[in-house]
This record gives sequence, structure tokens and C-alpha cells, in this order.
Amino acid sequence: MKILFLDHSGVLGGAELFLLDVARRYQDSCLVGLMAEGSFKARLEQEHIPVRVLNKQAIAVNRDSSIWQSLMSLRQIVPLIAEVAALSREYDVICTNTAKALVVGAIASLFSRRPLVHFLHDILTVEHFSQINVRLVPGLTNRFAARVIANSKATQTAFVSAGGNAKLTEVIYNGFVPERFQTSSANELQLRQELELEGRFVVGNFSRLSPWKGQHVLLEALAHCPDNVTALFVGDALFGEDEYVDCLHQQVAELGLHDRVKFLGFRADVSELMSACDLVAHTSTSPEPFGRVIVEAMLCQRPIVATAAGGVVELIEPGATGWLVPSNNAEKLAEVINECYADPDRSTAIAQRAYQYASQAFHLDGTCQKVTQVLESVVADQGLTPIQTGTVL
Ligand code: UDP
Ligand code: GLC
Repeated sequence: MKILFLDHSGVLGGAELFLLDVARRYQDSCLVGLMAEGSFKARLEQEHIPVRVLNKQAIAVNRDSSIWQSLMSLRQIVPLIAEVAALSREYDVICTNTAKALVVGAIASLFSRRPLVHFLHDILTVEHFSQINVRLVPGLTNRFAARVIANSKATQTAFVSAGGNAKLTEVIYNGFVPERFQTSSANELQLRQELELEGRFVVGNFSRLSPWKGQHVLLEALAHCPDNVTALFVGDALFGEDEYVDCLHQQVAELGLHDRVKFLGFRADVSELMSACDLVAHTSTSPEPFGRVIVEAMLCQRPIVATAAGGVVELIEPGATGWLVPSNNAEKLAEVINECYADPDRSTAIAQRAYQYASQAFHLDGTCQKVTQVLESVVADQGLTPIQTGTVL
């Protein structure tokens, strides 16, 4: 079976890291088509996963596009659709990984008569997107997609509420390779030394810097914790949120937290850095569709506290595998941080249980098996004989 994956993004967000893991399994029988140059393309090349940038300019539809803007950019993407339609004839199935890729892939699939599967990573509500974009994904998938793979039940529910056809959907969680999250205690010590964190209680936040990712809530919580508690922010503003980054630095100054906060920017060594933390805090103020960082913390055997909304409540059993706090509530977050600080044995026991759970429930093998089943079934339903590649998946 040959697969054409499509993603519009140039940078490595969670959806792209999911695609990277899946495409790695189909390395000999897939192509990842992108609509922008950038770190995502570089990472795919580095891992020898076939990749091609399909046009040199990113499409100008964004989360808040008006109908007019969207229609105008649709006119601009006609040549891109033609390119994808021609290319997809060499593949058995088209898999789109972002809404912009869906716009292109859906229409291309009509011309090439190849089945379309959409990976849905977003909770489609007006809290996250413009009304037009909330309707766009269900409208296109209802008409063109053979299946929609949602990254959580919360994402699936929002899709159906936005008018999506429930019968198309299947929930498949992101998958991980547990071994990739094992680090040595020598490494942890070295990193702590390098970052001047020895003797501190370190709360890590691993996320792009964006208002809805709620880094400001952790800063506010820090002010309610002992001086020894330090926050480590790992991640960058990926989608032009520079104003928010300025606000965070201003907040640090106002709260007098200079000595207790570090911003490291985007890092590729997330598992090492997580292992150097005492607690990982996920702080999204809007419902998180899935939340890869939560499972990653579990696999690093670090206690996790997260916002109780969206897909997150499907990942954590409070008190058993982690902590859940209401969104945008710095006091409650501080309570949990202080609880973990005061009782490290209990935190370690919870982190161990979470590790056992996550290494089974969110294993990449299970995720890829389910994805393969869906793709094979849509190809079979079309009556197509899969294009032979000699690869055994
Ligand atoms: N991440 C990373 N480097 C960073 C910050 C984050 O590689 O500096 C990764 C993180 O490990 C996770 C992903 O980015 O795999 C973020 O995915 P998540 O689902 O948590 O949130 P998203 O940003 O996709 O909404
Ligand atoms: C999106 C979502 C995030 C999810 C990721 C992978 O980026 O915002 O919650 O974990 O996709 O599915």
C-alpha cells in the first residue's frame, strides 16, 4: 500500500510529530507532501522519510480567515490541487494531517479517484477557530473523506457537534516508543548542572508559547510556591505569538521571578529535559485536543499535572496516574505543585503507575496497527489493488 501524506506546516507542532512517527513506519512506501519549507522538512529528510515541498508559498488560510479570505486563497491553490491530483495517482490513499492540507487533498482526491483519510488533531469549536473554519472540516470530510481519524474522544465529539458525520470517525490516540523516553540519571544530573538547577524543585512546561497553552498560569502559580520551586519553559512561539512572549517576560519581572524561571526555546532533547524535572505541568486554558506532552511525561516517569479539559481527561486518572486541575486556576495548580514538593514518595508512586499504563495504552505499535487497518479497509472498499512496494508493514 502506498500512502501520500499531506501537511501544510513547515514547523514541528504535535500534529507533525505524530505524522513523523507514523510516516517512519511507512518509510519505503510513502511520500510526505508539505506546503512550506522549514524544520519539519529537515527532520523528515534527516530520517530518510521521502518528503517533497509541493509549493513554495504557504497557503494564506489561517484559523481566523473570513469566508472571503478563504475563497480568495482557494483560487490561489488551484495549481497546487492539480499537482496533488496528478501525484496522488501514484498512491493508494491520500492522508491529510491539517485543515489546509484537507482543502487541497479533498478536491485532489475527487480528480484522482483516490480515497481520502483525514487525521483530525483539532477540537473544532469557535474557541479555537473562526466559524467558517469550524464548518469547513466537517463539510469537506462529509463530502470527500472515507474516514476521519480523531486524536481523542473530545476531538471526535466536537467534530460531530460541528456537523461531522459520526459514522466516518474513529478515535486513534497518538502513539509513542517508550524506549525513546529512557534516560540515565547521570544525564539528568549533568543537565541540572548545566542549567544551574541543582537542589531546586523543577516544574517543567513543554509546549509552544501561545496564550491558550497557558504559560502565564504557571508563572502565577509559582508566586504561590516556596522560593525553591523553579519553572522551566521548553518551547517557542511557533505561529507568531511574539506579543505573548513579551507578556510572559513582563510577568516574570512584575512577579519578581527572575531567579526562578528559565525559558529554553524549542529543544529537540525533550525526554532528557523532562527527566531533569520533578514535575511536568500542562497548563492549557482551552481544551487540549490530545496533549502529547502528557503521555511523554508519563513515559519519562515524571509526575504530571494537567488541565482537566478536552482529550486530557481521557489520558489521566486523577490521583492514580496524575493530577487534574481546573483550567486557568493558578491557586489549584500551586496546591498540586506544593503537594508534590512536600510528598515526593507519593509523586514517584503515581509517576511509576502512569509509566506502566502509558507504555501499554499509548504504544506506537498499537497506533500504527490501527491506522494500517483503517487505510487498508478504505483501499479495499474502493476495490483498488494496493500498489506493490515490497514492504511488509
Ligand atoms: N516539543 C518539542 N520541543 C519543544 C517543545 C515541545 O519537541 O521545545 C514537542 C513535545 O515533546 C510534544 C509536541 O512538541 O511532542 C507538542 O505536542 P502537544 O500535543 O503537546 O501540543 P501541540 O503543540 O501539538 O498543540
Ligand atoms: C494538535 C493538538 C494536540 C495534539 C496533537 C497531536 O497539535 O493541539 O493536542 O496532541 O495535535 O495529535
